[in-house]
Amino acid sequence: MSAAKVHTTTLEEIVTPLTTLWNFDYESNVKALRDLYEIAKRDQWNASTDIPWTVETDPTQVGLLVGPEGDPLEHFDFFKDLSDAQRDDLNRRRSAWTLSQFLHGEQGAALCCGQLVEVVPDIDGKLYAATQVIDEARHIEVFHEYIGRLDRIYPMMPGLKALINAVLSAEMWQMKCLGMQVIAESMAMGAFKMMKASTGDLVLRRVLELTERDEARHVSFGLIYLKEELEGLSEQDQIALEDFALAGIGLLMSPANLEQSGQYLFDIMGEVGIDTDAAGKEMAERYEADPDLRGAGTNPIKQYAIPNLERLGLVNDRTRPRYAEMNLLN
Ligand SMILES: [Fe+2]
Ligand SMILES: [Fe+2]
Repeated sequence: MSAAKVHTTTLEEIVTPLTTLWNFDYESNVKALRDLYEIAKRDQWNASTDIPWTVETDPTQVGLLVGPEGDPLEHFDFFKDLSDAQRDDLNRRRSAWTLSQFLHGEQGAALCCGQLVEVVPDIDGKLYAATQVIDEARHIEVFHEYIGRLDRIYPMMPGLKALINAVLSAEMWQMKCLGMQVIAESMAMGAFKMMKASTGDLVLRRVLELTERDEARHVSFGLIYLKEELEGLSEQDQIALEDFALAGIGLLMSPANLEQSGQYLFDIMGEVGIDTDAAGKEMAERYEADPDLRGAGTNPIKQYAIPNLERLGLVNDRTRPRYAEMNLLN
């Protein structure tokens, strides 16, 4: 059935296969997941009242998704030559672009863990996943509210959308758990940590503190559950999971996705009056002369997602060379 006409510009439909499992054994059987469920109930917060929304945001203090090495654009003359007003305007829009990716990722997480309630076999897993649905609802709420202080909502990058669609469409529940809880959640937790370190805004810091705490729990769920599960999995299923992780990371690291992210930066630069042809030429020349500059900067996939795949034994002799090709090994 197609969506109501009024929503056609904002809805996107994908058809996903789901094997929904009832479990009539209500006794707890995975203690670590039950413990996590208790922690999740204890640590609920309210996006309406636990964020100091009455404090105003100074857009120059919002910060960017950058590591300790700072903003990569600072290497370029076109950026150094900007007036203060242009630089502030550019950075305000870049922040909103990044936060828009967080926002869309949060919706994706809500959709995925809604599925997890249905597909995971254990009652402890179902109860825990139910808490995560409300966690992700809160995250959608806070990022949407916050972006409104800065700018508009920017579109979702195709690599992120492709990863989440692959998770939503995966047939094995272990793939959903791996793609969302381990890869996407680790990346989100890392990105929130990085942005928290760069922001001078009290409201965003509180938003990131609370969401990061939830994301850490979401990653724990994936690691605990999959570690248990991998022990009993056939070699064929283990290989399928390894390949799913590789393919998912490959979607994020694909040249087409990276190029699209670069294109959005150029569009934003154009909006604040930067000569994008000249800036593009300078960037291309500098990258040509110093190829390391392109990959410089902290990458939350490399820093946070890959170590968790290693913890699960999914980066092994067979798959390691592929991660090395993507320059993702530490
Ligand atoms: Fe989230
Ligand atoms: Fe999450």
